[in-house]
Amino acid sequence: MEHDADGRLLDREPIEPPASFVAQANVRESGIRRTFEREWPDCWERAGDLLDWDRGYDAVLAGGGTEPPFRWFAGGRLNASYNCVDRHLDERKNQVAIQWEGRLGETETYTYLDLYREVNEFAVALRALGVEADDVVTLYMPMIPELPIAMLACARLGAVHNVVFAGFSASALASRMERAESRFLVTCDGYYRRGAATNQKNKADNARISLDHDVEATVVVSRLGDEMHLGERQYGYADLLTAHEGERVTPVARDATDPLFLIYTSGTTGAPKAVTHTTGGYLAHVAWTARAVLDVKPEDTYWCSADIGWITGHSYVVYGPLALGTTTVLYEGTPDHPEKDRVWRIIERNAVDVFYTAPTAIRAFMKWGAEYPARNDLSSLRLLGTVGEPINPRVWEWYYAHVGGESCPIVDTWWQTETGAIVISTLPGVDAMKPGSAGRPLPGIGARVVDGDGEPTAVGETGHLVLDRPWPGMPAALATGEGWASGGYPRRSADGWRYAAGDEATVDADGYVTVLGRIDDVVNVAGRRFSTMELESRIVEVEGVAEAAVIGGDDRDTGRAVYAYVSLERDYPGDDCLRARIEERVREGIGPMAIPEAIVFTPDLPKTRSGKIMRRLLEDIANGEALGDTSALRNPEILGEIESVVRRDPADEE
Ligand code: PRX
Repeated sequence: MEHDADGRLLDREPIEPPASFVAQANVRESGIRRTFEREWPDCWERAGDLLDWDRGYDAVLAGGGTEPPFRWFAGGRLNASYNCVDRHLDERKNQVAIQWEGRLGETETYTYLDLYREVNEFAVALRALGVEADDVVTLYMPMIPELPIAMLACARLGAVHNVVFAGFSASALASRMERAESRFLVTCDGYYRRGAATNQKNKADNARISLDHDVEATVVVSRLGDEMHLGERQYGYADLLTAHEGERVTPVARDATDPLFLIYTSGTTGAPKAVTHTTGGYLAHVAWTARAVLDVKPEDTYWCSADIGWITGHSYVVYGPLALGTTTVLYEGTPDHPEKDRVWRIIERNAVDVFYTAPTAIRAFMKWGAEYPARNDLSSLRLLGTVGEPINPRVWEWYYAHVGGESCPIVDTWWQTETGAIVISTLPGVDAMKPGSAGRPLPGIGARVVDGDGEPTAVGETGHLVLDRPWPGMPAALATGEGWASGGYPRRSADGWRYAAGDEATVDADGYVTVLGRIDDVVNVAGRRFSTMELESRIVEVEGVAEAAVIGGDDRDTGRAVYAYVSLERDYPGDDCLRARIEERVREGIGPMAIPEAIVFTPDLPKTRSGKIMRRLLEDIANGEALGDTSALRNPEILGEIESVVRRDPADEE
């Protein structure tokens, strides 16, 4: 296969999925997109049918589907914890539900029966601490089994969980609890990260102290095993389980449109953006896509390597696989500890069938070398997946050859925190693959690439990626229509309802969508989202800083990297000391994973006559590209003065 300089295939020869895969695929109807089109929106009943309902729904989509409110599975009532746990007991109570691989090589196994017992006991404990339906419970934990257990315990009570990625700082945790008015917190004493134990409880305590409202109860899981010092209204997780041993809670039936959880992501403003997902629509959409795209079967061992702190972990480590009754692997550590073959050892040891990861991880595997996967028996693998950012065809091919042995299809799944579940991907038992392109919109999904006037772009032309029909996993604010004013969602355009994803893309003659990246003020680095505004507001808090502009530039290893251009107050020295203070401020304000790759001090920032910072030019500089149009600049001379980018070693990234 031939590539251009960016690694794109010149001659895109589609790759057919192996016949052996197709023969066993969950979905192999070649006409499924047409069928869904004809039967839309009732086609989504196939997703609803994957769940058990306490009360059946009256309509797959109430409200016509052209204008909000969009009420998916209206009238239906269900409980997510029941769907992920209880209903599997008859057929597979002793099958492994969660296979946990600890950082230090320890393992733990939870069968569906174990999971049922612990979810119940913890749900009883939460209720005894005062948690009721609709209360927001914040979960601030790393990749330990107690995190999905706490999620399911909340879901059992109809409480709304708010998982905050464990690497976030105390102040980032506090702002997420504050906004959600969350009065309950579940955390742990600490956890291992790159050889050292971090003190998670300390961060949680600092967050609690800074809140305006009271926290009624904090539950602390002992991960490190050291003696814990519990203060007032703080409870040890293990003690609570002992106190409620053998007790059970009847799952609380929720309306399909009731919230299941909320998750904060980076939007286009300085503040984190809350996205709330519903119980029925979200769960049906994740279960359907885990089945149709990730080809998950109950007898599989399935591993999605994402952290539960982000949406991928919610949808495809916890809810999707458990709703289907499979075995989901949970890995606490990093891929290079103790050796660079850790991932392949976990796959071999557990005979993993389906592996779902991010391009940033695959690029690291590629850099370490094919000898690491080659050392292990990966023949159990049937399907590979990727998510989070565009995958370069060279990287795709490496994954295909060295991990999949050229016998596993790869699904390149495009979706977002807002979509809740996969919306664009090949169906591995139906579609040919084109490396570098995600594929066509899934059956039942309306996705298009449009120009600035909202008209579909011509083949190969770049435009905005929009979803122009509602989908089951859509966020509550988008479904009710109430979020449009406050949630930063785009308004309805003249020719009908649509959601603009904030991504740029092209479509080829077969309808395959190639996603190019973000076009709004969000930077996507190593599969994680950062708001340029949020970073800028932290940086300008540092004494001596006048202005800051944060952009995403190209990076050889991570694909994208965050660059901060900082102008200083008069006579303030732009030295390493100031650079360290900026890094510290970002670490405290957000977390270590958000520290910019490079901080460039500059006398001024390139601005238009009206004072708007021209970020595009800063991106060009970071990428070493020829500068775009500079005629609108009021200070063109500044471009020559902006120094070359200083790279920081990203090794201590969280
Ligand atoms: O830019 C797209 C990129 O990730 C963004 C969504 O980020 P987040 O909400 O954090 O969710 C990440 C995991 C679902 C998108 O707007 N993105 C996600 N998947 C892909 C992708 N870009 C290209 N190809 C993908 N497969």
